[in-house]
Amino acid sequence: MRRILVIGAKGMLGRDLVEVLRSSLRSDKVFGWDIDEIDITEENETATKIESLQPKMVINVAAYTDVDGCELHEEKAFAINAEGMRHVALGAKRCGAKAVYLSTDYIFDGKKGKPYLEDDPPHPMNVYGRSKLKGEQYVQELVKDALVVRTQWLYGKYGNNFVASILRQAREKEVLSVVNDQIGSPTYTVDLSKAISLLIQREARGIFHVANSNLCTWYDYAQRILTLSGIKGVKVLPISSKELNRPAPRPSYSALDTQKLKREAGMTLRPWFEALKDYLSAYP
Ligand SMILES: NC(=O)c1ccc[n+]([C@@H]2O[C@H](COP(=O)([O-])OP(=O)(O)OC[C@H]3O[C@@H](n4cnc5c(N)ncnc54)[C@H](OP(=O)(O)O)[C@@H]3O)[C@@H](O)[C@H]2O)c1
Repeated sequence: MRRILVIGAKGMLGRDLVEVLRSSLRSDKVFGWDIDEIDITEENETATKIESLQPKMVINVAAYTDVDGCELHEEKAFAINAEGMRHVALGAKRCGAKAVYLSTDYIFDGKKGKPYLEDDPPHPMNVYGRSKLKGEQYVQELVKDALVVRTQWLYGKYGNNFVASILRQAREKEVLSVVNDQIGSPTYTVDLSKAISLLIQREARGIFHVANSNLCTWYDYAQRILTLSGIKGVKVLPISSKELNRPAPRPSYSALDTQKLKREAGMTLRPWFEALKDYLSAYP
C-alpha cells in the first residue's frame, strides 16, 4: 500500500483533496498533515518527519494565501510558500518520493491578453506570486518528475473565500462594490481535487494548468452568486481595482489555458457557473 502525504490538509483545498484522494485512490493510504503535525518553515523537522513516514508521494498545499498579507509580510510569504516547499522537497527527496506543488495564476502579470500556457514566461507582479514562483522552482530543481498544478480563484466549503464573503456582505449591506477589471475562472476545490487525483493516476509530471472553464470578472461572479442564491434587493456596483486600492497589485487577465490537461489527461473541468450552482445548492 503506497503512502501519500498531503501537507496543508486542514486548509480549504486540503480538506477536499484528502477526501477525494481517499475515495479515488483506494489502494493507497492517504495521510493529511497540517501545521499541528508539521511546520514546513522548519527545515530539519520537515525533512525528518517526512522521512519517518516514508511516503511515495508528498502533495504540498500548505501556503500563506492572503495575497495582501503577503505584500505586507514578504519574509513570511517566502518562508512558507518558497522555503517551505524547499524543505518539503528535501524530505521527499530523502525517501525517493514524488512531489506535487500547488501554484497560482498570480505568477503571471496578466499582460498577455490571451489564456496563459504552462510554458509562458512567468512574471509575477506581487509578493505572493513571486514567493509561489520560487516554490515552483525549488520543487522542480530538487525532485525528479515533480508535478506543479497552477490554479486560480478557489472556493470550497472549508474556506473563507469570495463566495462566503459575498453572501456575508449581502446579509449586512444593500450595495456591494466589486471589481470589474480582473478576469479569471472561479474554481471549485472539489473539481480541482478530482483533477489532481487524475493527474496522479496518470503519473503526470511537469506543469499543468487546472481551472473551471469559462471566464468572468469578480463583478460577474458576485452577481451570479446572488442570483443563484435567490438573493434580491442587493445591488452590485462595478468598481476598478484602482478604486479598491488593495496593497497587492493583481493581474487584470489571468486566464489559464487548460488544453494540456485535456490533451494529456482527457479532462476538462465544467464551466465555473455550473460548479458554483452545485456548490450553492449543496451549501446554501
Ligand atoms: N485560494 C486560492 O484562491 C488559490 C488560488 C491559486 C492557488 N492556490 C494555492 O492552492 C493551495 C491551497 O490553497 P488554500 O486556499 O486551500 O489555502 P488555505 O486554506 O490557506 O490552506 C493552507 C493551509 O496551510 C497551512 N499552513 C500555513 N502555514 C503552514 C506551515 N508553516 N506549515 C504547515 N502548514 C501551514 C494553513 O494553516 P493556517 O490556516 O493555520 O495558517 C492552512 O491549513 C495553496 O498552495 C495556494 O497557494 C490557492
